[in-house]
Amino acid sequence: MSTSVRERKTDEKNTAPRAVYIETFGCQMNKSDSEHMLGMLDEIGYQQTDDKRIADLMILNTCAIRENAEDKLYSYLGVWREIKAANPNGALIAVGGCVAQHEGERMVKRYPYIDIIFGTHNLHRLPELVLKAKETGRHVVETFQELPEDLPDLPVIRQNDYSAWVSVIYGCDYNCTYCIVPFVRGRERSRTPDELMKEIRELGVAGYKEVTLLGQNVTAYGHDLDPPMHLGNLIEMTAEIDSIKRIRFITGHPRDLKTEIIDSVAKTPKACNYFHIPIQAGDDRTLRRMARGYTVDFYRKRIDEIRSRIPDAAITSDLIVGFPGETEEEFLNTVRLVEEIEFDACNTAAYSPRPHTHSASWGEQIPDEIKRERIRLLNTVVGEVSHKVNQRYLNKTVEVLVEGPSARNPERLAGRTESNKIINFEGPKELTGQFTNVLVETANPWALRGRLV
Ligand code: SAH
Ligand code: SF4
Ligand code: F3S
Repeated sequence: MSTSVRERKTDEKNTAPRAVYIETFGCQMNKSDSEHMLGMLDEIGYQQTDDKRIADLMILNTCAIRENAEDKLYSYLGVWREIKAANPNGALIAVGGCVAQHEGERMVKRYPYIDIIFGTHNLHRLPELVLKAKETGRHVVETFQELPEDLPDLPVIRQNDYSAWVSVIYGCDYNCTYCIVPFVRGRERSRTPDELMKEIRELGVAGYKEVTLLGQNVTAYGHDLDPPMHLGNLIEMTAEIDSIKRIRFITGHPRDLKTEIIDSVAKTPKACNYFHIPIQAGDDRTLRRMARGYTVDFYRKRIDEIRSRIPDAAITSDLIVGFPGETEEEFLNTVRLVEEIEFDACNTAAYSPRPHTHSASWGEQIPDEIKRERIRLLNTVVGEVSHKVNQRYLNKTVEVLVEGPSARNPERLAGRTESNKIINFEGPKELTGQFTNVLVETANPWALRGRLV
């Protein structure tokens, strides 16, 4: 743990602020963490606002996965500095999440207008850090190396009242050579089933219809418990809660997606027929150098096993192009794999060298121009494959959990199928948070379109 308090050059008054504005980058773990931050801050009198100009506290929950995620943070900070200066009440700026976890004190030195820095392992300390910054008028920097043993149950204000994220395992014990996550999220730690069932039962009582079980490596859930259990057990336990109708889990690792988990999904109707199983590359030499711990053939067998038990399962993946030393032929193996597996969708990224990772210091870094060319080609193929896969939905009626007005066209509603496809259709806003049936009339690469039936 490291804690320090440094002089901040303001003479703002020590009055309790009221409004908190929060901006969240990165994965669902961060989004879930932000909901807990809002829950904790509510207990000390801060209410969420959408208008940062009137906020007394502005929080950036950051992501360190790629350099451009970090760059985004610094461009936001520049704007926030001006908003802070223009606020007569003197807003506080707090930076949390994965960048704060690894940069810590250094950020305050470079950006002295940041008031609070906190990491991913001490979220529960946020209210105290805010009060301390307010009282002392000084910078407060605190990060923990690991999660505390007796992590308290954190209050939460969820951003949605029908679908909830529940973190079930923290951290990651893998050591992929490109990835900063183990460094910023620490070792794997599963929450106990008692704790989780209590939380999910409460969600059921509150009328939630969908839960997403979260972890950087959610498929490893339970291996560290006494007695050990697996994600499938947790899915089956969750399914016993009446009002919960859909259960999702992200993100899986191919090595940990064991037969027993696939079986549990297959025999639990509430478990969604959707698997996000990142392969990262379709080439054995690249996978070995990424230290992923499997071959392409191993991955193929996992997919065959899913499809033999759950024929309509949607399968999505993450892919990295331009890993150091990746040859054109190795890159093309990734492209071919997308065509062969027929992924429903893929998140693609150009390799970004990250601090604290092995591959960042390797020679053979691929020039940006080649990375750009590779990602362009890969995205084209991913789009074509998704388009083809989505055609299978045409003229079928799908059950949709309605999420509200569509981001692209607020005249329409958007929702998700069990297989996690976004579908847009016309209908009354009152359907938000409800299940409804939609006939699919158009399928494009990224979404479906249909009409209520
Ligand atoms: N735990 C998950 C992935 C978590 S990180 C898994 O093992 O699959 C989310 C995604 O970010 C990764 O799947 C990877 O595709 C991407 N990513 C991670 N580090 C990266 C880097 N240095 N450059 C580019 N993409 C990266
Ligand atoms: Fe990163 Fe690998 Fe862990 Fe995924 S499994 S979070 S890619 S180290
Ligand atoms: Fe980013 Fe941290 Fe998630 S680095 S992807 S926010 S775990």
